[in-house]
This record gives sequence, structure tokens and C-alpha cells, in this order.
Amino acid sequence: MSAFQVDFYGHVRQYHNLKSEIDAAIHEVLESGSYVLGPKLKQFEGELARYCNLKEAVGLNSGTDALVLVLRAMGVGPGDEVITTSNTFFATAEAVWLVGATPVFVDIEPKTSNIDPSLIEAAITPKTKAIIPVHLYGQPAEMRAIAKIAKAHKLFVVEDCAQALGARGDDFAIGELSDAVCTSFIIQKNLGCFGDGGAVVTNNSELATEIRKLRNHGSSQRSHHSLGYNSRLDDIHAAVLSVKLKQLDKWNDLRRERAKEYDAGLANTSLKLPTVRPGFRHIFHLYIVETEHRDELQAFLKSKGIRALTHYPIAIHQQEGYPWDQTARISGSLEHTERSAAQVLSLPMFPELTSQEAKLVIEGIQEWEKSRKAATGSAGA
Ligand SMILES: Cc1ncc(COP(=O)(O)O)c(C=O)c1O
Repeated sequence: MSAFQVDFYGHVRQYHNLKSEIDAAIHEVLESGSYVLGPKLKQFEGELARYCNLKEAVGLNSGTDALVLVLRAMGVGPGDEVITTSNTFFATAEAVWLVGATPVFVDIEPKTSNIDPSLIEAAITPKTKAIIPVHLYGQPAEMRAIAKIAKAHKLFVVEDCAQALGARGDDFAIGELSDAVCTSFIIQKNLGCFGDGGAVVTNNSELATEIRKLRNHGSSQRSHHSLGYNSRLDDIHAAVLSVKLKQLDKWNDLRRERAKEYDAGLANTSLKLPTVRPGFRHIFHLYIVETEHRDELQAFLKSKGIRALTHYPIAIHQQEGYPWDQTARISGSLEHTERSAAQVLSLPMFPELTSQEAKLVIEGIQEWEKSRKAATGSAGA
């Protein structure tokens, strides 16, 4: 039981809503005796590839490994540079470091918090091998512009889609304009298993074959190995994900409904609300507001029994010890990234969140605004 009146996640509610189907799927795997690289993994990989309208999916043990293995399979390594943003979960850049390459950070567009394509070209050097746009909070990055730059400079594009499975651009689908899509199934994602999991989805069959080998100790044939990893998505997780994948579009629609309620209820407040690009399907993995008084608002909501979190309050290049004896490069200024880190607050957002709960969050924020106004004479954005 949560100590909060409105919690941030609804994992257990989601489980209870699908309990009989999930329990039966897990039971079937347990009775089958096939737990690793078994038929349920194969089935889920087929379903995921079809869902993304791409040729192949490879199930892995995390979204982090999806990024690492795809970079490895592309031959990205020491001496190479990979362009991405510092306003993302740590794993995006960590994967670049883990393969021995150098992340190059460019700033974000202030409106969407995604990579600003107009800054990419200036960051390219002869060492650049790839771009990793992150579809942050559930809204795709500007893939048309990114793909155009990548094509002109012969760079790989790897989409970090850990937060955006089921999202779309205005005239493009995720995966349509890149070499590979990496996603995460850690429980808090839009499609989550009961632990860790991830996948690479791609139209490139050679790449998929190489990643399949890498996830299994560099082996595609029993007892024949080369250097790789132990990074397989377990069949129990795959079976659970098959059950949940059928619900994903409906769940994303529910998130979008709650987002609309937040948009309407908070329109007259001092908060900066999410911007959705025209025609884009943002699936609100996270609903982020921004205010200079973030910590105060978070504490106020907590006092009202509402759990709000921060994604991500310390940008990667601002982490203590950065870059840990590795190489890293910042291209231009990261002023929007740094402002965002100081101001972001994530409101409760999950498909099982009720309208009544969203209303409590809105009322809590309105009450905070009133008390600020009374104390300072202005709410102050
Ligand atoms: C943007 C982003 N990239 C990568 C990851 C890494 O995924 P995982 O936690 O499954 O390793 C996550 C989530 O955790 C993420 O949000």
C-alpha cells in the first residue's frame, strides 16, 4: 500500500487489472521448462517487430544493453564520437562510454526538451559515427531533420525510445528513419515487465543477427563463442510483455487523456506545461511541468499526499565526477539543458491514474499557487 494519496506509479493496479492473464502466462512458462531463449521470447519478438512495423526485434536484458549492443554491432568504439543530449537518463551516454566511444552533448530545444537538430551539424567531426536522439518523456525527436543530417554525413542513427513506445511523429513512425530503435521494459516504462528488460527493433537483419550473437556470449551456434555479453530477455518477462503489448495503445491513450486534463486544469497557472509538436503523438511517459520553484512545489505536493518526481534534476555533464576519466565533449552551450534540469517536475502519470486523482494533483498545484501569491505577491513562473 502506498503512503501517498496520489502515487507516482500504478504498477500493482496494472497487475491486478490483468492478473488472470498475466498469472496464466507466467504459469505456462514455468510448466514449459523453457526459460531462456525459448518460444515465448521468439513470440514476443515477432509481436514487437510487428507493432513497430519493423522487420526484427531482439529481446535483451535492459534498455541500456540495447544501446550498448547496437553500438557494438555497428562497430562504434574507441576514437569514435556519438552525438546526443545531456538531458536524458544517464544510460544514453553511459552506453557510449561503455563501448569506449566519446559522447558529444548538444543542447535541447527548450519547448520539447528533445535534441535540437539545428545544433547537430556544428558538433560533427571526422570522428563522428552516430547520433542518438532520445524521444524524451514520450514525444519523438525531430527525426526528419536528424535523418537528413545523418544521411549527408553518413552517420548511424540510433533512436533511444525507452520512453516512447507507441508514439509517432507527424509524418514519420519511430524506426522508419533510423538504423535501430532501442527500448526499455523496466517496470516504470509504458510497456514494462516485472524487472529489467529491453530490446532493439530494426529493419536491418544483419544488425539484428549480430545483436542476437552479442546477447548470447558471441554465440549463434552451441559451443562456438566470440566476445559478447549475457543479455537475454527471459521468457517469463517476454510472456508478460506479450500480454501487456496488447494493451499498450489503450494505455497510451489513457495517459494522453490524463495529460489533457492536466493541460486544462493547469493552463492558468504559472507553470510551463508540455509542448506537443503539431501532429505528433506524444504518449506522455512523463508529464513534466517546469517552474523556478520546483523544489518548493514538490515539497508542497508531498505535504498533500501527492508524489511528484524529477526527471532529470542533474544533467549528465553536471554529475559529480563527470566524465570519470573517460572522454566527453560539449558542443556549444547547454543552457537549455541546465535550465530544464533545475526546473523540471514530473506529475503522477500512469494509465490507471483516475481523473479524480488528476484533479487532486491540479487542486494541489492551484493551492500552492494561491499560497505563493499570498506570501510573495506573485506566483512567479
Ligand atoms: C531515455 C532512456 N534511455 C535508456 C534507459 C535505460 O533503460 P534500462 O533501465 O532498461 O537499462 C532508460 C530507462 O531506464 C531511459 O529512460
